[in-house]
Amino acid sequence: MTKRNTTKAVCPGSFDPITKGHLDIIERAAELFPSVVVGVLENPSKKPLFTLEERVRLINNAIAHLDNVEVTCFSGLLVDFVNKVNGNLIVKGLRAISDFEIEFQMALNNKRLSPEIETMFMMTKNEYSFLSSSMVKEIARYGGDIHDLVTPEVEQALKQKFSVSDK
Ligand code: PNS
Repeated sequence: MTKRNTTKAVCPGSFDPITKGHLDIIERAAELFPSVVVGVLENPSKKPLFTLEERVRLINNAIAHLDNVEVTCFSGLLVDFVNKVNGNLIVKGLRAISDFEIEFQMALNNKRLSPEIETMFMMTKNEYSFLSSSMVKEIARYGGDIHDLVTPEVEQALKQKFSVSDK
């Protein structure tokens, strides 16, 4: 087995939109590894609220203080994307036991597809363990307070989305 002395970590997700829970994982990965790629899944079947361009812009804004993190879009298999960017590690956040089963399935399938890529999990910060993009969108849609869950730019973008669409 080859030992690699560099790690390029990929933090994948839909990021529709990025939350402070995502950002916490990206910041911690950026502390641990020399290079981090945020992989934004283009998945038309999921009908995201934000376009790919909007999601990428909001992530770029949120990670502006991190000089070893870049943002790239992908479609298709995550392991193909990780190989394409010369990555060797997938980093994901775990919020609760309920996340574990699906994450375990994905990690094992990814391992089967590309055994040289490892998956690592970080426990989310306690204050974000209840947080998801879906919850944020639901609260924002009905005018609830989300200021401590997302960046000011995401909060603003959500307000704009819901002020021009049906509630
Ligand atoms: O933020 P999400 O929607 O929970 O992220 C899920 C994501 C993007 C990590 C996952 O859907 C994914 O890896 N999709 C790419 C397709 C793929 O590789 N599927 C096989 C994994 S078993």
